[in-house]
Amino acid sequence: MGEKLLVFGGGGFVGGNLATVALHHGWEVHVAERVRFPGGLPGARWHLLDVREEAAVRGLLTDLAPRAVVDLAAVADIDRVEKEREQARAVNVEAARTIAAASAAAGAYCLYFSSDAVFAGTAAGYAEEDPPAPVNFYGRTKVEGEQAVRQADPRAGIVRLSLVLGFPVTEGNSFFAALEAKLKAGQEVAAPADEIRTPVDVLTLSECVLELLGLRYAGVLHIGSTDSIDRASLTRRAAELLGYPGARILAQAGGAPASGRAARHKNGIIRVDKARALLKTPLLSAEASIRRAIQERLQQDCGR
Ligand SMILES: NC(=O)c1ccc[n+]([C@@H]2O[C@H](COP(=O)([O-])OP(=O)(O)OC[C@H]3O[C@@H](n4cnc5c(N)ncnc54)[C@H](OP(=O)(O)O)[C@@H]3O)[C@@H](O)[C@H]2O)c1
Repeated sequence: MGEKLLVFGGGGFVGGNLATVALHHGWEVHVAERVRFPGGLPGARWHLLDVREEAAVRGLLTDLAPRAVVDLAAVADIDRVEKEREQARAVNVEAARTIAAASAAAGAYCLYFSSDAVFAGTAAGYAEEDPPAPVNFYGRTKVEGEQAVRQADPRAGIVRLSLVLGFPVTEGNSFFAALEAKLKAGQEVAAPADEIRTPVDVLTLSECVLELLGLRYAGVLHIGSTDSIDRASLTRRAAELLGYPGARILAQAGGAPASGRAARHKNGIIRVDKARALLKTPLLSAEASIRRAIQERLQQDCGR
C-alpha cells in the first residue's frame, strides 16, 4: 500500500476526481464525508464525519496519521453561502482551522483550498501576494479560512482556484454537469460575459495537487490556466464540445445580480507564473483546459 492521503470533502466534485487520480498514483486514499455515496470511489476508504465536529476530526487524524491531508470540505455554492452564513463560516473557516491544527499535530502536511473570490476583481490580474478585498460572503470566508490555516500551521499549503472544469466522479458542485443537464433538457443557458475566469480542468488540478503533496509546498499558490476567458465564451465553447449549438448560450452583461444571485468579482484573473515555475505538471491554456475537461472525463469504475 502507498502512503496515506486523507481528503476532507473527498466525495465532492474536486475531491472525487482527486481521490480517483490519487488511487491511480498508488496513494492509500481515505475520504472523509458526511455520507457515503452509493458505489462511491472503489478502492478508497470512507470515514463518515461532519468537519464541524472538532473531536471527530482530531480523532481521525490521530488514528490514521496520514502523510498528507487535503481539505476540500466547503460550503462552495456562492449563492447558498450568502444565505447560510453561519454554516459557511463554520465549515470554510472554523473547520479549516481545526483540520490544519490537527494535521500539524499528527505530523501531516495540510493543503487548504481557497478561491479567486478573495479578490475584488477590479484589477487586470492578481498575484499570490496581492491584498484580498472580497465582494461576497463566500470570498470573506475564504480570506478568513486562509488566515486560520496559516495561524494553525504555517507549513500548510493554500491553493487558490478560479473555476474548476470537469464532471463529478460521485457528486458535487460541477458547473459543467449543470450545463450539460440544461443542454440535454433542450434549454438555453444564460452566461455572464463580464465575468472573467482563469479555469483549470480537474485532471490537471489533481496532478498539480499530488505534486504539491510531494513538495509539501508552504504558503499560497494560484492554479489555473495560462490565459483567462469570460464565462459566456467559456460556456459556449463547452456547449460546442459537448455537441450542442453554441447559439444556445446567451451572453449577458452588466446590471445588478439576478435575484437570489450573490455579487460576483468580475476579473477572476489569477496569475499562475509561480505555479508554472514550481510544478512539472504543465498548466494549459483556457481552450485546452475546456477541451481536456470534456475529453478526459473520469469514470467512477475505471478511473479514466
Ligand atoms: N469548483 C470550483 O470551481 C471551485 C473554484 C474555486 C474554489 N473552489 C474550492 O475548492 C474546494 C472544493 O470545491 P468543490 O467544487 O469540490 O465543492 P463541492 O463539490 O461542494 O465539495 C465540497 C464537499 O465538502 C463537503 N462538506 C461540506 N460541509 C461539510 C461538513 N460539515 N462536513 C463534512 N463534509 C462537508 C460536501 O459534502 P455535502 O454535500 O454533504 O455538503 C462536499 O462533498 C472548495 O474549498 C471550494 O471552495 C472550487
